[in-house]
Amino acid sequence: MTISEKNEEEPFLAGVESASDEAYNSQKEYSSRINLQKGYFIFLIVQAALLALNVSMLIFNTFHSCEIKVQFAREEVEEPYSPAHAIVQYKIQSLDLTATELSPFFGEPRPELDEAWSGLTESSMVEISAQDMKIMNKSSIAIKETGGYVGYYAVYHQLHCLKRMYQMNYKEYYSDLAGSFTMEHFQHCMEVLRQGLMCKPDLTVNTMQWEPRASLGYVGVTAWDRKCIDWDSFHAWTNTKTIPTPLEDFIVPKKEEGSFGP
Ligand SMILES: *[C@@H]1O[C@H](CO)[C@@H](O)[C@H](O)[C@H]1NC(C)=O
Repeated sequence: MTISEKNEEEPFLAGVESASDEAYNSQKEYSSRINLQKGYFIFLIVQAALLALNVSMLIFNTFHSCEIKVQFAREEVEEPYSPAHAIVQYKIQSLDLTATELSPFFGEPRPELDEAWSGLTESSMVEISAQDMKIMNKSSIAIKETGGYVGYYAVYHQLHCLKRMYQMNYKEYYSDLAGSFTMEHFQHCMEVLRQGLMCKPDLTVNTMQWEPRASLGYVGVTAWDRKCIDWDSFHAWTNTKTIPTPLEDFIVPKKEEGSFGP
């Protein structure tokens, strides 16, 4: 042991020394006692480390067992591949119903409302690369020249349905769409939306509060944080893949080779 190591150790040993040093006045006895105490000291350190390990494992097991189960539940089912997974971003956002009258989607039919709905559903039909089609093991109608295929993200189908159901409430204003205003189409859209909501439910916990002006004396509180897709960036991305309309002009005719694949 070098001088410096001995010096470093002294402060630790000093605390272990007792006032009964006189009983061990021979140099031999003293040094053997130091060795004993050193062994005891190391033993204590090891015990303390083991205890700390045990306690931390107990805490970990107690508080993390639920989390581990949730993780298992999440990982049980793998989400089928979608090219959008690579680009979607998430953010925390709450449901905001404070100024619905300012929403372009709210109220009576008018050009501003029609434009808002058109903007939402404009990028419905998008080009999916042959590579992505192969990863998904899906086939679709081919697009002329590009080597891509026609696809549409399910959420745009849902939005289309919501738009149609709104329009069906104003049959006179949307008289040019009368052909698609069938009860069959309405029922189809109901099913698309019901199954969509139940497949990807918003699991935010809403609450209630007393409200004297409400007919029942209480109302629901819905403005709580939830995890939302960053719609604007997703929508902007799908817009870059949009197949122009009319679709018929951009797809490979059925009679031609390779009209369906890959
Ligand atoms: C790919 O799709 C075809 C037709 O739907 C199916 O028969 C085949 O089992 C699928 N292959 C894989 C690997 O999922």
